[in-house]
Amino acid sequence: MSNPPLARDLFDLPPDLLWVMHCAEGPVPRAAIEAGRRMLDLEAHPWDSDFTRDVVGLPDRVRRGAARLLDGDAADVSLTQSTSSGLSMIAHAFPFQPGDEVVAPLGEFPANAWPWKSLQARGVAFREVPLWQGHQAGAAAWESAPVRAEDRPEDRLEAALGPATRVLTVSWVRFQDGLALDLARLAEMCAGRGVFLVVDGIQGAGTGTPDLRGVSAFVTGGHKGLLGPAGQGFLWTAPGFRERLVPAGSWLSVEDFSRWARPGTDLDRQWLPDGRRLEPGNYNLLGAAVLGESLAILGQAGMARIAAHVRALQGLLIAGLRDLPAWPGEADRLEPLWASGRLGPILSLHKGSKDPAFLFDRLADGTRRSIHASVREGYLRIALHGWHDAADVDRLLEWLA
Ligand SMILES: Cc1ncc(COP(=O)(O)O)c(C=O)c1O
Repeated sequence: MSNPPLARDLFDLPPDLLWVMHCAEGPVPRAAIEAGRRMLDLEAHPWDSDFTRDVVGLPDRVRRGAARLLDGDAADVSLTQSTSSGLSMIAHAFPFQPGDEVVAPLGEFPANAWPWKSLQARGVAFREVPLWQGHQAGAAAWESAPVRAEDRPEDRLEAALGPATRVLTVSWVRFQDGLALDLARLAEMCAGRGVFLVVDGIQGAGTGTPDLRGVSAFVTGGHKGLLGPAGQGFLWTAPGFRERLVPAGSWLSVEDFSRWARPGTDLDRQWLPDGRRLEPGNYNLLGAAVLGESLAILGQAGMARIAAHVRALQGLLIAGLRDLPAWPGEADRLEPLWASGRLGPILSLHKGSKDPAFLFDRLADGTRRSIHASVREGYLRIALHGWHDAADVDRLLEWLA
């Protein structure tokens, strides 16, 4: 087992606390909190602040840090408030016509449903597609069959695309069952059909690099695997897709916005061609300062190392599950999903035929042991990251037993 790529003391974690819920919220590293304090100091003393360095330069740094983690280009990154705001911006900026439709997997996190559903008023339909036999969501989510390695979710999505489909929107990693969709395969099937692929990436960002080839947009908040604060996220768009979007319109999204010799009231300007054209206006500099530092820490550790580390820990956890009668069949279900690279950083243990109370009892027992996990829609979620180690897995198995 390799050393964790992120040292535990980067974070202010109490010694006995085991936090396996970055799928809800990641801890913010101490150095990132310090960066936020420095920014607040500047807010208290604006005469020490410099427009080029702090108002233009800081967002630039965050865009570059985001691009490094995505293996993309900083010019394609826009700063946003959250996953919701990025998705909502795309949904409302895309030139839909009445009769168009948006297709999504059944049971997306609602941040990736409501922005599209709100287009109903413009005659645009939102259609959800079950990804496997027995897959259920909504009021019936707790009765859903769990995903298995032999399921072919991408095939079901492909079969669902029709002549009215303009956008396919998916989570890269699903929030409840932890399944990672094959973005390359989805991009390929969208390409030939004139369908744009939009990805809610928050449950995978910070623990791996998405394959953005053929993706139109990748949206994430910063507060989970990216280890940033709530209220600061980013959006990556492919240049050709970005050009189709109608900018919301902000004074920071046009050429020459900071050349004070030119009157700002001169409105004879072009939208900037890069990601700034989609940004909503003045920046959350506090959030940007904190997220910028978190991205730098993740970039230094390296996405490939973090991804390999998380995968190795998951392998240990799944192997240990075999000996635990409380989770019958889960090692057999999860192992082939894991082996075929179909899991993101969340290992989601399904309740099987047990009552939901079983999961909540386990969760409460974990909390008593200072193990903090989460339960969603039939699964106990264990999210591993770059600071966890093999001793953490032993402790999880002792608890799960
Ligand atoms: C897949 C997914 N998308 C989005 C979100 C959250 O969106 P936002 O960044 O708007 O809070 C979550 C969880 O909170 C999620 O699991």
